[in-house]
Amino acid sequence: MGQGQSIVIVGATSAIAEQCARLWLQPGVARMVLMGRNAGRVQQLAADLRVRNPEVELQVVVGDFGDPADIGRMVDEAVAQHPADIVLIAHGYLPDQAACQQDLEAARDALHCNGISPVLFAEAFLQHMTARNAGTLGIIGSVAGDRGRKSNYVYGAAKGLVTRYAQGLQHRVARSGVRVVLVKPGPTDTPMTAHLKAQGAKLADASAVAQAIVRGLRLGRPVVYAPAQWALIMMVIRHLPRFLFNRMDI
Ligand SMILES: NC(=O)c1ccc[n+]([C@@H]2O[C@H](COP(=O)([O-])OP(=O)(O)OC[C@H]3O[C@@H](n4cnc5c(N)ncnc54)[C@H](OP(=O)(O)O)[C@@H]3O)[C@@H](O)[C@H]2O)c1
Repeated sequence: MGQGQSIVIVGATSAIAEQCARLWLQPGVARMVLMGRNAGRVQQLAADLRVRNPEVELQVVVGDFGDPADIGRMVDEAVAQHPADIVLIAHGYLPDQAACQQDLEAARDALHCNGISPVLFAEAFLQHMTARNAGTLGIIGSVAGDRGRKSNYVYGAAKGLVTRYAQGLQHRVARSGVRVVLVKPGPTDTPMTAHLKAQGAKLADASAVAQAIVRGLRLGRPVVYAPAQWALIMMVIRHLPRFLFNRMDI
């Protein structure tokens, strides 16, 4: 695009998304729309990015990520001035699996925020992208969506929904100019996993994961495991016979 690219980030305050935003503050990117649920946090991020590169125009869009009507309104607002060349949908949280088993509202909220809400954002952006026959949509799933495990299957089910949904979208846009990229991070060092870090878990750097995401979106890769070795690890996990899998405490 002659006038520079427009990038939209949903759940922009996520640590992974913030690292992506920093990488996107490059010549060639003219504007960025930062979307979030908390105005103060998104404004703070915008102020930080402005200092890093005052040339990039930054817009903040805030709303209710649980409300389909507001999701539609936010997406329309994000593309009202300029069509989005790249969209990254990044919001989500890791629920307490045991709490979800006890409390159906906790399970519903986790399924909604990690599965339904990202998918509704994607659907709304796709309407604009297919109308232009252009644009790349990245949506963050997780390696947790590759096989249900007792330690996090509510979160994993929501991410599995994102996986299957992205697969369908990719089929829908296969013969068009639109690209859909499903990102599956492995365990990454962000506020979402602070409790796992405290327990000694080995976590990838958010900046390394962001580099893989930005590259995957630029190339329009259908699936991006980040870091890349998770593609192999999850292939093994997906294919483990049930009698072995059931003996594992994972
Ligand atoms: N970290 C990992 O190990 C890992 C692994 C695989 C996949 N992922 C996925 O990567 C994405 C980014 O996560 P992260 O690790 O960067 O986490 P993070 O730094 O904790 O950020 C979480 C993001 O989700 C938003 N969010 C949380 N609960 C929300 C809710 N109920 N409604 C709307 N927004 C909500 C937060 O907004 P506020 O700033 O307003 O709280 C923030 O933007 C998520 O989709 C996550 O599932 C992470």
